[in-house]
Amino acid sequence: MTEETTHFGFQEVPEGEKAGRVRGVFGSVASKYDVMNDAMSFGIHRIWKDAMMDWLAPRPGQRLLDVAGGTGDISFRFLKRAGRGHATVLDLTEPMLIEGRKRAEAEQMAGSLDWVVGDAMALPFEDNTFDVYTISFGIRNVTRPQEALNEAFRVLKPGGRLMVLEFSQIPNDLMQWAYDLYSFNIIPRMGQVIAGDRDSYQYLVESIRKFPDQETFLGMVRSAGFGNAKYRNLSMGIACLHSGWKI
Ligand SMILES: C[S@@+](CC[C@H](N)C(=O)[O-])C[C@H]1O[C@@H](n2cnc3c(N)ncnc32)[C@H](O)[C@@H]1O
Repeated sequence: MTEETTHFGFQEVPEGEKAGRVRGVFGSVASKYDVMNDAMSFGIHRIWKDAMMDWLAPRPGQRLLDVAGGTGDISFRFLKRAGRGHATVLDLTEPMLIEGRKRAEAEQMAGSLDWVVGDAMALPFEDNTFDVYTISFGIRNVTRPQEALNEAFRVLKPGGRLMVLEFSQIPNDLMQWAYDLYSFNIIPRMGQVIAGDRDSYQYLVESIRKFPDQETFLGMVRSAGFGNAKYRNLSMGIACLHSGWKI
């Protein structure tokens, strides 16, 4: 029997290999991940993450599952906005979680967080467990994104909220050209200089181009069962927020 294939950046790889390769990428860059995010985006990822929180409007006492949560950026923001609550950060790559745990201790927030190694496509949680599910710059790395969305629906409580932050497609050819010029020429070089790893950042920019556009992804959110599903472009579609409710 021939194995299904999928994309890993611009390469076609057997499905069973993708998660290991993704783990390799993020294991390699974990200690420089936060610095690189600021450098590559000129700090704009912070504005996008704040926009995510504005739309999400965290409330006191809510229980968050932050999938592909990495070093915990979304969970920290969520807990600060909620004032009181709990976040579970789940990620495929343990070194990312280790960096996150160090940050939690430095910010004296360790008591409000759990760190779990796991795969977005097979969450180790009961049905109807969380109030909020977030995945930020994570879902394009997942081998079968529809399965991750189905799992999000399963673990959310009735009335629970999904929010996805991801790079998306720019609906303007001239801007796309300028953006490609920057991302394909500058970002891998920055990765080489700052994180000592050009290939991981080459994968990153390629994976952005392979991700479905806003409307296609909206259809996937609806297929998972989410109601009142909507999206908002950020920076003209360089990134995008998708929101849905388990209703
Ligand atoms: C670009 S980082 C995003 C980290 C964080 N959410 C943020 O916004 O800064 C992507 C993360 O997705 C994780 N990841 C990739 N595939 C995953 C999967 N199938 N299940 C869980 N985590 C995954 C990687 O290990 C990595 O930590």
